[in-house]
Amino acid sequence: MTQPRRILVTSALPYANGPIHLGHLVEYIQTDIWVRFQRMRGHECLYVCADDAHGTPIMLKAREHGIAPEVQIQRVWTEHTADFARFGIGFDHYHTTHSPENRHFAELIYTRLRDAGHIVRRSIRQAFDPVQQMFLPDRFIKGGCPRCGAADQYGDSCEVCGATYAPSDLRNPVSVLSGAAPEARDSEHYFFRLADFEPMLREWIAAGALQGAVRHKLDEWFEAGLADWDISRDAPYFGFEIPDAPGKFFYVWLDAPIGYMASFQALCERRENIGAPLAFDDFWAPGADTELYHFIGKDIAYFHTLFWPAMLHGAGFRLPTAVFAHGFLTVNGQKMSKSRGTFIRAETFARHVAPEYLRYYFAAKLGPEVEDIDLNLEDFAARVNADLVGKLANIASRCAGFIGKRFEGRLNKVLIGDEDPRRSDDHIDSLTSDLMRAADDIATCYEGRDYARAVRRIMALADEVNAFIDQKKPWDLAKDPAQAGHLHLVASVALNAFRLLIVYLKPVLPVMAEAAERFLGVAPLTWNDAARLLPEGHVIGAYQHLARRVEPEALSKLIADSKEAAPSIAAPEQPVTAPIAPTIGIDEFAKIDLRIARIVAAEQVAGADKLLRLQLDLGSEQRQVFAGIKSAYRPEELTGRLTVMVANLAPRQMKFGLSEGMVLAAGDGKGIFLLAPDAGAQPGMRVK
Ligand code: MSP
Ligand code: ZN
Repeated sequence: MTQPRRILVTSALPYANGPIHLGHLVEYIQTDIWVRFQRMRGHECLYVCADDAHGTPIMLKAREHGIAPEVQIQRVWTEHTADFARFGIGFDHYHTTHSPENRHFAELIYTRLRDAGHIVRRSIRQAFDPVQQMFLPDRFIKGGCPRCGAADQYGDSCEVCGATYAPSDLRNPVSVLSGAAPEARDSEHYFFRLADFEPMLREWIAAGALQGAVRHKLDEWFEAGLADWDISRDAPYFGFEIPDAPGKFFYVWLDAPIGYMASFQALCERRENIGAPLAFDDFWAPGADTELYHFIGKDIAYFHTLFWPAMLHGAGFRLPTAVFAHGFLTVNGQKMSKSRGTFIRAETFARHVAPEYLRYYFAAKLGPEVEDIDLNLEDFAARVNADLVGKLANIASRCAGFIGKRFEGRLNKVLIGDEDPRRSDDHIDSLTSDLMRAADDIATCYEGRDYARAVRRIMALADEVNAFIDQKKPWDLAKDPAQAGHLHLVASVALNAFRLLIVYLKPVLPVMAEAAERFLGVAPLTWNDAARLLPEGHVIGAYQHLARRVEPEALSKLIADSKEAAPSIAAPEQPVTAPIAPTIGIDEFAKIDLRIARIVAAEQVAGADKLLRLQLDLGSEQRQVFAGIKSAYRPEELTGRLTVMVANLAPRQMKFGLSEGMVLAAGDGKGIFLLAPDAGAQPGMRVK
């Protein structure tokens, strides 16, 4: 392979005032597949995201719940991260824009832009709610449409006739918050002079950073002229106060994209603490030779293709390598709707249907362009059942038994093309080499975000494998002892083919791939594994169910549950638990050697924020372990205590020394609680 690339990837930051729904998941799944693909190829690919925690709607949502905005966003953060985990979204770090790192970069970027003369101040007239004593965003004013007269329209556009206008144009406007008629008041605002960056932006776009449709949109925007951007809001506002402007806050969209940097900075800090440092400047300094990609929805292209690159450039940072926009999700051909039960939350979906199936379905629909995609629930069930159950899992389930029962689980030798002395059996050669040869094409599809094409290609290969099995009829061969050698070869060819299909689908189906790796008895598959086959005599495990059918009842329940007026997000205070991980067998559990250990020494580690160095006595030997428990324990209160450790974890070289195992502790992001055995336990005892 060529040089490993160094890539930083982001998805847009979801607002901290609502749950993750299937529309959001289009984006996180699209991004995650790309990231997993890059990692399988051996590249360094870092994926960061965060909650977008600021702004008026979040402030008001917290008020509605009678809690501080800080509490509101913390609860939503916990729910969002649990949802992402359910759908296998593998962030390296998930941060929040309401963080010290984000404040730092927001202030830094603002000050640099100001000092370079890109910020101007002027007074503007705005709607003010005299009861709530606050300025009203356009969406918080309603009234009659100035064009068609329709009542009860928002301050920015009419849902009846489609007219767009200023809130001051509304007939008989009222504040959505208090019902009072808004007053017009003047206030000084801060503006970013976007037009200063037009030549730079045109050059960046010409360098190929955008898709065709987005480029066309930009041409229109350039044509219309780049207006100054209002980056300030008056108190009360939940956000960061502007350094030199008391009572004025950064508009949420100023610090939101900066959240990409803040999250990355937090990742750098974490990596520092585990002794695997990552340099911020490698990914953000001008001229950095790394790649930076933002995945976004088409609705926020303006922010990511004009404001954000301009802010970065103006403040002396690098530009994104590319911005990838996707279209919007409709369900059963229509906008998601609460009353139709198609406004489906991630959490509700996961309760009724395996999340990986949604990953598969979206992958099968996602192309490289900015096109809307539809989730048709009937089609979803039909497709998952046909492809994943009927085609993919079927290959393994039809052939594994023969190998297990008749050949002690051992595979026969499978050769490719010309090397094969049994060339007379054409179909066997060509099937294996067709599958292996497809690797580059499929990789090109993933790289270019044409997942729909990748999936089509992979499923066509699965069809070939099934046709091969249908033709060879291993179940008939099994009846004739004289055909044992042939049966062995046919089943081995099919299982090798299955393994190759799993390599190709692994970016889309990480959980199923892991189950398949276990069944095949192989280490985590990487893209290079498509260039080799399993050796003669390789032992596979017992076949376990890899995919279950989606039943129509599950989908009707999903719709019914989505119709119920679900409690609004993050209202109830409930205990916070992460979802339970997928089931493992007793033999997998038995691989983990847990032992009672005595902490004979504990000490601070110079230069580490979170780690303590522990010296552990296991009865027969002593171990050094670095544990991230510094925030919860003082070294002196640990010395002499008993705890539980993983004794057979592979040692890890950290910046501060070798860590030879791990101690067990519970944590919920707020506290850390070390496990301790009951009285009588002795160092070295096995924990089962
Ligand atoms: N907070 C902003 C993004 C800030 S990025 C610096 C925001 N949040 S959002 O929660 O409304 O949306 C997050 C992402 O999900 C956006 O990229 C948005 O386009 C995407 N989607 C939200 N609803 C969607 C659909 N129905 N379909 C597809 N994508 C959708 O915007
Ligand atoms: Zn109208």
